[in-house]
Amino acid sequence: MVVPRHAVAELPHGISLQQGVVLPLGISTAAAGLYQKDYLALPLPSFEKKDHGRIVLIWGGSSSVGSCAIQLTVASGAEVYTTASSSNFDYCRKLGASKLFDYHDSDVEDQIVSALRGKTLAGVYHAVGSNGAVESCAKIADRSQGKAIVVTVRGVPDKGIPSSVRVKSISSSDIFKAGSDIGPHIWRQFLPKALAKGVIVPKPDPLVVGSGLRSVQHGLDKQKAGVSAAKIVVDNIDQDASRGERQTLERVQWLDGHCAVKVTETFECPCPLFCSQHSFPEKRAVEGRSAPFDQLLNERQAHRALVERRKDDKTIES
Ligand SMILES: NC(=O)c1ccc[n+]([C@@H]2O[C@H](COP(=O)([O-])OP(=O)(O)OC[C@H]3O[C@@H](n4cnc5c(N)ncnc54)[C@H](OP(=O)(O)O)[C@@H]3O)[C@@H](O)[C@H]2O)c1
Repeated sequence: MVVPRHAVAELPHGISLQQGVVLPLGISTAAAGLYQKDYLALPLPSFEKKDHGRIVLIWGGSSSVGSCAIQLTVASGAEVYTTASSSNFDYCRKLGASKLFDYHDSDVEDQIVSALRGKTLAGVYHAVGSNGAVESCAKIADRSQGKAIVVTVRGVPDKGIPSSVRVKSISSSDIFKAGSDIGPHIWRQFLPKALAKGVIVPKPDPLVVGSGLRSVQHGLDKQKAGVSAAKIVVDNIDQDASRGERQTLERVQWLDGHCAVKVTETFECPCPLFCSQHSFPEKRAVEGRSAPFDQLLNERQAHRALVERRKDDKTIES
């Protein structure tokens, strides 16, 4: 599987692959609904203190997508009201939600509308697979002040939507379309730092159901049976990858980190990319890297600078 370079983030020390893997789909789906112009159009998340005084209602804060949506919304400066089972209220509160509602309550719509009285809604994010919830979200938006829009991870229902409310279906991959700065901003600029600072945490926790491709069906069955504030994870999926695939991957990884200019027919320069023995044109001509030499070099230099800065910070602290 090939993932675009602007759709990945480095995991800081202390976050395992099993934990980190819960994020990609949730973060991208949340971002697609929260930031695109025709959707909620919130300001992109940042580390500055902000108080926009607007509220986003996230229906299903304990789902995978909902957990990411809560965290991103708070990082964009809006307040979050959310629905979940009462057993997950603490979970959602820790992620940043300020008001919690149990969606099992028969009067949950009235409860939310009354909590929103006098406040401005920035929109509703519907983050669950179950039927009927989009209609509830739309009715709440219709009865509240602010932006009458519901963005949904599911399709748009044929009926049950008040005419004042716009419902838009989300596609997670839209943030990576040419011309969109949302994917690169979230994945390259925001997430690596946000994960290192703990501003975004990988949630929900992984529920590891097995290893290797043969466990995937078991994982799908578990997902279909339903999960609560948990993400089904199959570990070590590449343990079944062919030896050839693994060797190709290892070869590309090596080329991405080394000078690799051919010195003899069977010997390639093993120095790092910064190697001063070979010229830039020679290094640019090496075939098989995953990205142009200059891009890889810039990334390594940026990484080096970050490591140096962290060392300096530690020295100052101690
Ligand atoms: N459009 C896209 O690009 C895209 C991308 C990813 C996912 N999706 C879709 O998004 C949906 C959610 O996926 P997910 O992986 O985030 O789900 P998930 O984590 O499997 O959802 C489970 C959670 O949903 C909550 N829930 C169930 N029914 C609810 C209801 N009526 N109201 C509020 N919360 C409810 C449960 O909360 P409690 O345990 O607290 O009761 C549980 O924590 C799925 O239908 C998936 O197919 C779409």
